[in-house]
Amino acid sequence: MSHLKNDTFLRALLRQPTEYTPVWLMRQAGRYLPEYCETRRRAGNFLNLCKSPAMACEVTLQPLARYDLDAAILFSDILTVPDAMGLGLYFAEGEGPRFERPLKDEWEIRNLTAPDPHAELQYVMDAVSEIRRALDGSVPLIGFSGSPWTLACYMVEGGSSDDYRKVKSMAYSRPDLMHHILEVTAQAVVKYLNAQIEAGAQAVMVFDSWGGVLSEAAYKEFSLRYLEQVVSGLIRERDGQRVPSIVFTKGGGLWLESIAAIGSDAVGLDWTMDIGRARRMVGDKVALQGNLDPNVLFAPADAVAAETRRILDAYGNHPGHVFNLGHGISQYTPPESVSVLVDTVHAYSRELRARG
Ligand code: CP3
Repeated sequence: MSHLKNDTFLRALLRQPTEYTPVWLMRQAGRYLPEYCETRRRAGNFLNLCKSPAMACEVTLQPLARYDLDAAILFSDILTVPDAMGLGLYFAEGEGPRFERPLKDEWEIRNLTAPDPHAELQYVMDAVSEIRRALDGSVPLIGFSGSPWTLACYMVEGGSSDDYRKVKSMAYSRPDLMHHILEVTAQAVVKYLNAQIEAGAQAVMVFDSWGGVLSEAAYKEFSLRYLEQVVSGLIRERDGQRVPSIVFTKGGGLWLESIAAIGSDAVGLDWTMDIGRARRMVGDKVALQGNLDPNVLFAPADAVAAETRRILDAYGNHPGHVFNLGHGISQYTPPESVSVLVDTVHAYSRELRARG
């Protein structure tokens, strides 16, 4: 991986020794940064920002200019895939994502097809290539997608939901239709991630943000099974380099051992489980990514540093840890807290390695 100036993140995902623990943050490019808000204003709205490769590239690089982060993540959204399937994504001001045409009728569901990533989603591939050029080998670029289950939640609910009533009703009353949506969506996700890898993504992450709302049995049937299908379909190597994958089920701590068994290189953890306990459960079968509660960043600097050290201590001096938050960074986060976090991860993990 000598083409990268800093490949610490990729080595940690492959559970190889690193001089320090690499760190990046979910939603690291976003509204807590005034420069992001400025670019979004210029774009007019969030979707225009995603659909302009030049502006998506610009905001991807913003957090890297401020902080010593070990990876960049493509600026986009998980809902680009159902948008490309024809559901009509829009963002109502202050209300989060919505679809003009959520999935309701059997007829619509039977007509669903996996989009060609080089047609409706070419703007994402163009952003990936442009970001890779701009990064110029400084740090690796992460590509991403939503999980089939999480995408299906938005496609059936028509937007965010408190109770997942529509999608769960479908899962329990018409499992055949639910599985059809998940099957087509899993094919779409595989094509989409592989196209990102071909365009230059050096690692990929699958966000299963709503897997944790399911029962264990339903999780295995409607989410994990399709996560496994996605991971099995991914390109493993590109230009002679391994392309590691990360699977993140928010609320999936109880099912960690099953998640660690589907073949991904790494598992993302939310903040609820102690990462030391997680590591004892999975050993060195997978790398772990996480898991600071994003709300810690609202505390004073010494508390941010102390909670960060607590997680590094809990994981211990083993390879295979990528530091991250347990979920996306809040838009209200003071940007200074992120400097404290990133600098503490680097300094304290070097200290732990020196102690042996
Ligand atoms: O991590 C990064 O910096 C890359 C960019 C990224 C965004 N969304 C940008 C974004 C990534 C990886 C996502 C993933 C995503 N999108 C998920 C999975 C991760 C998670 O948080 O669980 C989900 C569920 C979505 C769907 C989505 N997009 C929601 C629910 C919302 C509205 C909520 C909110 O935070 O406003 C979005 C909008 C969105 N996606 C924003 C950003 C920066 C905010 C939009 C804005 O600028 O107004």
